[in-house]
Amino acid sequence: MTSEELNQIADDSEVPLLEVRNLTKKFKDFNAIKSPGVDLKIYSKEVIVIIGSSGSGKSTLLRCMNRLIEPTSGQVFFEGKEITLPDVNIDLVRKDIGMVFQSFNLFLHLTVRENIELPLKKVLNLDDDEIDKRINDVLNTVNLADKIDSYPGELSGGQQQRVAIARVLAMRSKLIFFDEPTSALDPELTGEVLEFMIRLVTEFHYTLVVVTHEIPFAKEVATRVIFMDEGEIIYRGTPDEVFDNPPNERLKKFLSKILEMN
Ligand SMILES: Nc1ncnc2c1ncn2[C@@H]1O[C@H](COP(=O)(O)OP(=O)(O)O)[C@@H](O)[C@H]1O
Ligand SMILES: [Mg+2]
Repeated sequence: MTSEELNQIADDSEVPLLEVRNLTKKFKDFNAIKSPGVDLKIYSKEVIVIIGSSGSGKSTLLRCMNRLIEPTSGQVFFEGKEITLPDVNIDLVRKDIGMVFQSFNLFLHLTVRENIELPLKKVLNLDDDEIDKRINDVLNTVNLADKIDSYPGELSGGQQQRVAIARVLAMRSKLIFFDEPTSALDPELTGEVLEFMIRLVTEFHYTLVVVTHEIPFAKEVATRVIFMDEGEIIYRGTPDEVFDNPPNERLKKFLSKILEMN
């Protein structure tokens, strides 16, 4: 048996943190994720970067994987348990899979403390002492302890995004999805958020799925890069395979487009 085959067996014996089988999504007649669907295994401590043109189905895939929207067909498993069954407790799914959006999705009428507190109370039903402890911990982690009583409107975009990340960290989610987390930020604020996301990987060993076109970030932390085009995964590989010498014409074309923009 070759070492490659042995590795394959080792891989297969580990249960993926998240597994997607044949997932498709239709909006009316439009196939946002096409048949036969997406297959994907995400293992603990992986950092998956998803790239692809606008409209290729990246956000739809993330949203189906945490059941923010319902897939049209296919299955999603978290730690080996199917979470696409109708009787699954969605709150538990939300607890395990955190999500950070391009537009931060903070409640503007609530303070930083209240934004982080809300899901800890409503979803996790934690007691006040535990909530206070977690809020202080995560705000220290994202370096925003002094903003605890500020409203989102009083913060920069980068600070707001760090609050959104803190809110997910406080839930102690096992897996975090980021959907273009820096696209709404000025370039000088993008760096502080990316640096913090790199710390999530190197210091805290989080498992992440990140939709982003920040290639240096992908090269630094991604274990695998997935390229989506027109509702399909067209290519997957290591950052080296995808960025340095892409073997796929559509991927090549896409990469030259984003290089032009930067
Ligand atoms: N709620 C919706 N209703 C109808 N069409 C949608 C909806 N959400 C997304 N789409 C369509 O599905 C396609 C994929 O969208 P999306 O996943 O947001 O792409 P990406 O994140 O890669 O830019 C797009 O053509 C988009 O217009
Ligand atoms: Mg999107």
